[in-house]
Amino acid sequence: MISNYKLETFITRDEIESKVKELGEKITEDFKGEELFLVGVLKGSWIFMADLVRNIDLPLEVSFISVSSYVGQTTKSSGVVRLLCDIDKPLNDRNVILVEDIVDTGLTLSYLKKLLEVRNPKSFKICALLDKPERRIAEISADYVGFTIPDEFVVGYGLDYNGYFRNLKDISILKLL
Ligand code: IMP
Ligand code: MG
Repeated sequence: MISNYKLETFITRDEIESKVKELGEKITEDFKGEELFLVGVLKGSWIFMADLVRNIDLPLEVSFISVSSYVGQTTKSSGVVRLLCDIDKPLNDRNVILVEDIVDTGLTLSYLKKLLEVRNPKSFKICALLDKPERRIAEISADYVGFTIPDEFVVGYGLDYNGYFRNLKDISILKLL
C-alpha cells in the first residue's frame, strides 16, 4: 500500500449517480426495440457497469474482457496493451457497447475496437465514464461519455492506483506526496 498521498474529491457519488442514470436513459432511447450486449473492460469498469445496466431498460447481456496496459506501480500507461482474458460469447449480429472506466491515451480502446469490430457485430459503440482528451495518442473517441476531465490521475468508483482505491464511492484526484 502507498503511504504518502492525498485524495481530493473531484466528482461526488451524487454527481456520478445522476450522470450514469442519464447515460443509461440515452442508451435506452438510442437502442429502442433492440437488444444489447455490453462488454466491460476489466477491472476498472466493473462498478460503472453494475450501475449502468440498472439504468438501461432493454433486454441485455453482459460480458467482460480483460486487458492490461499499465505495468507495475505507475500512473502512466506503458502503451503496450495485452489481452488477458477474452469474451465468452460471439459478437456477430449483436449491438455491442464496450464499457470503459476512462479513456486516457486511447491505446486500450483502439486496440479493443480493432479486436472486436472484426467479429461482425450489428453495431459497435463505446461508453466511457471519464474522458481525458488532453492525453490522447490514438485517434479514438467514445460515443457516450460521462465526464470530460483534465489531465489528473483519478481513483475511486472502480478506478485504481496500483490496485487500490477502487472501493471509494466518490472519484478523487490522487496526489502522491
Ligand atoms: P489508455 O489506454 O491510456 O486510454 O488507458 C486506459 C486505461 O488506463 C483505463 O482503462 C484505466 O484503467 C487506466 N487509467 C487511465 N487514466 C487513469 C486514471 O486517471 N486513473 C486510474 N486509471 C487510469
Ligand atoms: Mg485500470
